[in-house]
Amino acid sequence: MLKEKMLTAFNKQINAEMYSAYLYLSMEAYFQSINLKGFANWMRAQAQEEMMHAMKIYDFVFERGEKVTLEAIDKPESSWDSPLAAFKEVLKHEQYVTSLINDLVDLAIEEKDHASNIFLQWFITEQVEEEASADEVIQRLKLVKENNAGLFMIDAQLGTRVFTMPPADPDA
Ligand code: FEO
Repeated sequence: MLKEKMLTAFNKQINAEMYSAYLYLSMEAYFQSINLKGFANWMRAQAQEEMMHAMKIYDFVFERGEKVTLEAIDKPESSWDSPLAAFKEVLKHEQYVTSLINDLVDLAIEEKDHASNIFLQWFITEQVEEEASADEVIQRLKLVKENNAGLFMIDAQLGTRVFTMPPADPDA
């Protein structure tokens, strides 16, 4: 069982994670359109990761004996001025998601929902990684500036990213 406030907040977070997947898929389409296949690959993996985040919460809500309610997903932007502008938006968005996760933890503490609090700790750690990986690409892009050779080098690096589904929770 989840308290009403907690259930509403988890449903909202599922929507936020799905929007994140939508945003990164839109960025993948943008990178495909400018022939930066490695950047596109990074975005595809990121979108898959976001769907995994959404499903993790989705499953947790069921595990707690409640019903998930899906809401409409907002339309993301479809183009950016440059790869750097896109990655700056990734970082800004991840910082926003971090604030949502922090709010969820605050609510779990307020509601004395220890199970939700423990569950959310995984997301706290994940957000540190999410922000760091976006910032890493931003720093590399700033180093190469307008240099095409540098941009293609980053593209090749980002092309190696592979999304791997984490193993199923043995306790689930
Ligand atoms: Fe699911 Fe990128 O936070």
